Amino acid sequence: MERARSPASNLLPFLLFIIGRVSCSLEATLGGTSPPPATDGLCAALIRPSGYPCSEHTVETKDGYLLSIQRVQHGKKTLGGMPHPSVFLQHGLFQGGDTWFANSFEQSLGFILADNGFDVWVGNVRGTRWSHDHTRLSIHEKAFWDWSWQELAQYDLQAMISYGTIMGLAAFTMPDIVEMVDAAALLCPISYLDHITSTFVLRAVALHLDQMLLSLGIHELNFRSDTGIQILDSICDGHMDCNNLLASITGDNCCFNLSRMDYYLKFEPHPSSTKNLHHLFQMIRKGTFAKYDYGYWGNLKHYHRVHPPSFDLSDIPDSLPIWMGYGGHDALADITDVERTIAGLKSKPELLYIDNYGHIDFILSVKAEDDVYRELIRFLKSRELYSSY
Ligand SMILES: *[C@@H]1O[C@H](CO)[C@@H](O)[C@H](O)[C@H]1NC(C)=O
Repeated sequence: MERARSPASNLLPFLLFIIGRVSCSLEATLGGTSPPPATDGLCAALIRPSGYPCSEHTVETKDGYLLSIQRVQHGKKTLGGMPHPSVFLQHGLFQGGDTWFANSFEQSLGFILADNGFDVWVGNVRGTRWSHDHTRLSIHEKAFWDWSWQELAQYDLQAMISYGTIMGLAAFTMPDIVEMVDAAALLCPISYLDHITSTFVLRAVALHLDQMLLSLGIHELNFRSDTGIQILDSICDGHMDCNNLLASITGDNCCFNLSRMDYYLKFEPHPSSTKNLHHLFQMIRKGTFAKYDYGYWGNLKHYHRVHPPSFDLSDIPDSLPIWMGYGGHDALADITDVERTIAGLKSKPELLYIDNYGHIDFILSVKAEDDVYRELIRFLKSRELYSSY
């Protein structure tokens, strides 16, 4: 039976971040590969104003998307020039790299890692407001939005991580993403979705929102647009508490700072593709962790078989140390699904379970440093990264 090949692809639908190899700060020799820094990017909007160094870089994926990545080379108190282990931060669905910097510098993982001596790289997948360009296509074309998380794994993660690694280690190239990664830490990991309890998502699935949008020719899914707001309204429509939309979608977050909502909404949610939503809804309906289902004839064309190939978590090599944090109130990454993910891995990951945490708490909880990040940083530092130079 054919299976999806790249083990790294298995990691993608997770809300994840990854630690790369040790950076040797050789970016000066590679400076020519970046276009001039954008003045309206994430660095200028959010990171530099908080007093942190930040540089903008652009990478091109194999299929022509131009992705922006940011580098926060050191913290406020730590110095540049010294070798720091690199960390690559990857956001989740409808989010962008800003999500790691959205709270105060004592509360946000991006700032905390920089202040703990890490060289922080921040990914932004195609379609997000920071990665809206393509070599040939414009965002107004249907073809620009013709992807799901499968392509994000196959092309975006690869391009961003290899760039980060290459920037750090000059000509260091590896054919496979897992080869470039020393350890992975995942927050609220998602691979199976069939136990999802999110009232909002379940209602959207029942209404066939994904198929409806596709048949209407809406290929960009942007909840900030007029259409997007209408979609949200029509799903709520007296069936759930839309005054608390965030909880309806992500679960009860114990430690979310409501008075900061307007600030979060300046950047989030980010656009994604309707095809991506459709792929995720396929997983919810079928309980699979598989490639995009094109239907009978489409699958024969794309995969030479009737059903899309599944991803097999046991393809992830057990040499890759994994850390996972997950919460009892997470309405997207349900405990049953997370436990199935854990059981599917060859090696047992290090786990941090927090009973009263919802999906968003892992990024935005005002207590995340105490509850989550301290443990996480201990894991990252324990990977003997410091001994490898
Ligand atoms: C919540 O957000 C507000 C507005 O940004 C801020 O002033 C306050 O300090 C935050 N509260 C906590 C506990 O971080």
